[in-house]
Amino acid sequence: MADTRQPDHRGADLWEEHAALYVRTLGAACAGTVVPLLDAAQVGPGTRVLDIGTGPGTVAAVAADRGAAVTAADPSPAMLRLAREAAPRARTVTAALPRLPFPDASFDAAVGNFVLGHAGPPQAVVAELCRVVRSGGRVGLTCWTDAPAAGQTLLGRALHAAGAPRVPPDRLRPPRSGHPGDPEGMTRLLGSAGLRRAGCRVVSWDHRVGAAAWTEGIVRLLATGLLTAGQPDPVTVDRIVRHAAALSTPYLSPDGDLRLPHVALLAHGWR
Ligand SMILES: C[S@@+](CC[C@H](N)C(=O)[O-])C[C@H]1O[C@@H](n2cnc3c(N)ncnc32)[C@H](O)[C@@H]1O
Repeated sequence: MADTRQPDHRGADLWEEHAALYVRTLGAACAGTVVPLLDAAQVGPGTRVLDIGTGPGTVAAVAADRGAAVTAADPSPAMLRLAREAAPRARTVTAALPRLPFPDASFDAAVGNFVLGHAGPPQAVVAELCRVVRSGGRVGLTCWTDAPAAGQTLLGRALHAAGAPRVPPDRLRPPRSGHPGDPEGMTRLLGSAGLRRAGCRVVSWDHRVGAAAWTEGIVRLLATGLLTAGQPDPVTVDRIVRHAAALSTPYLSPDGDLRLPHVALLAHGWR
């Protein structure tokens, strides 16, 4: 009989298994918030910044380029390997929210780009980030919103049109990992953890990607079986790809790249 007392590590294993694919697909789209996130957390030369859930190190690399002293942390060793390549000057640490292996007040700023939602109860996550920043330090978090832009819903619409509706990404989320999907809710979340001047705004950007690379990413994402109920057969994959191509036409620029509109929430506050 299965031992149901074992912790559920499926989410963590999935990040580990699909790290390289993440960089080329969703990770590239997630890069759009890096600069506003680091600006909101006032990361500059000498800032001791924690990038939690660093993934492939996208935030860590830009923070290091700004001259910050970067600690890049993630539970996935495969992600940390990518982060070391992207941000060789950063210190990399294996760590998982909501309990981090850092003393109180060890950082001037802590940021997490699209980590909330994958890392356990949001109150516990924010409280832990508060704990590790010093008094006067900053916490900055991005997350997806309840009101996505057209470029973000494109793949879901293609799946629906092809008769293979998207399943919620629950396998990438441990239990109780939801978060508010609107600015007011995120502001309340950060404020209730004791952050001062908590606020949240919508950030928008175009995710720019070559049309062929985008299609290839879709095919590879479909092959993981994470998007749909089971792995779609080749005929269904072909149908999804054709719907995705048709739906993406309005976002094709003259140079052949897609510019897919995205929005996210950027929440921040002071310790
Ligand atoms: C959506 S990705 C975001 C990665 C990166 N911040 C970026 O901007 O692309 C989520 C990341 O959170 C990491 N993660 C999963 N569970 C976590 C946890 N409990 N604590 C911290 N990070 C976690 C995953 O390994 C993955 O790298």
